[in-house]
Amino acid sequence: MRIRKAVIPVAGLGTRFLPATKAIPKEMLTIVDRPTIQYIVEEVVASGIEQVIMVTGSGKSAIEDHFDYSYELETILEQRKKWTLLEEVKKISNLIEITSVRQKRPLGLGHAILCTKDLVGNEPFVVVLGDDLVDASIPCTQQLLNVFNEFHRPIVAVYPVSKEEIHNYGIVEGEEIKEQTYRVTKMMEKPAPETTDSNLAIIGRYILTPDIFTILENTPTGHGGEIQLTDALMELARQNQIYAYRFAGRRYDAGDKFGYIQATLAYALKHPEIGPRVREYLQKELCLG
Ligand code: UTP
Repeated sequence: MRIRKAVIPVAGLGTRFLPATKAIPKEMLTIVDRPTIQYIVEEVVASGIEQVIMVTGSGKSAIEDHFDYSYELETILEQRKKWTLLEEVKKISNLIEITSVRQKRPLGLGHAILCTKDLVGNEPFVVVLGDDLVDASIPCTQQLLNVFNEFHRPIVAVYPVSKEEIHNYGIVEGEEIKEQTYRVTKMMEKPAPETTDSNLAIIGRYILTPDIFTILENTPTGHGGEIQLTDALMELARQNQIYAYRFAGRRYDAGDKFGYIQATLAYALKHPEIGPRVREYLQKELCLG
C-alpha cells in the first residue's frame, strides 16, 4: 500500500530552548535561512508524500502561517518587483497540502499522534518529528518508505549512539536481517547502559500502521507524566513484528541547544552562498583545522 500521509507533531513546549521558545515555536527557529520545520516539510515532499497532518498546539500558529499564502507580503514584493523573493515565498505555500489538528494540552508525543486518528484513517503513515533534522543524500523518510515497501510493517529509524547517550533515548535490540535492517526483538525507553548491549537509538522518523491508534488509546501515562509513543511501540512490537532501519545520513536534534548549533554549522558550511565564508571564518578566526 502506498503511503500518502505524514504526521508532523509540533505541539511540544520546547522547554529545553527557553527562553527562546517563550513566544516562538522551536520549529520556527532558523537554521541558516529557513525555519527547522521547512526542512522537515521539504523532506517529506521530496519523499513523495502527498499530505501533511500537523499536530499543533497553543502558541504555534506561526508554523501554519509560514506555510500559508501571505497576500499582503506577496503584493508588496510584486509592487517592488522583488521577483526572486516572491518566487521563494510562493514556493513555500505551494509545497504540499497541509491539514492541522490541535492538541489541546501537551500530553506527550503518543497523545499527539492519537489526535490524528480521524485524519489518518485506516492507512499506514509516516511520522516525522518537527525538530529532528536528518541531512542525507536520500531523504530519511524516503529511505524508510523503501523498507516499508519490502516488509509492509511498522519501522523505526535508528542510529548508533555512544554508551553515555543511551539513557537519553528509546533503544532497540534486534536481529540484523539485511544491511541496516533489523527485526526488532526488544525496545526499551531510556535504559541504563548496563542493561543492554545495543546502541541503536530511535530518532524522530517512524512508519506506523493504523493499529497503533487502538494501542495509544489504551496506553497509560508513562515517563514524565506523558503518553509516550515508545510505550505504544513496545506494545505494537509485542503484538506483531516491527522493524528498525539504520538510515544513512547525519541526524541533528534541533530542539536541543547543542544539536541546534551543530545543525546550524553543518547547514551553513554547505550553503552555496555563505558556505565558503563560514569555512574560512571557522578556520581563521577560531583556528580550526
Ligand atoms: P520533545 O521530546 O522534543 O518535547 O517532543 P518538547 O516538549 O517539544 O520539548 P522539550 O523536551 O520540552 O524541550 C518530541 C516531538 O513531539 C512533539 C514535539 O513538538 C516534538 O516534535 N510533541 C511532544 C507534541 O506534539 N506534543 C506533546 O505533547 C509532546
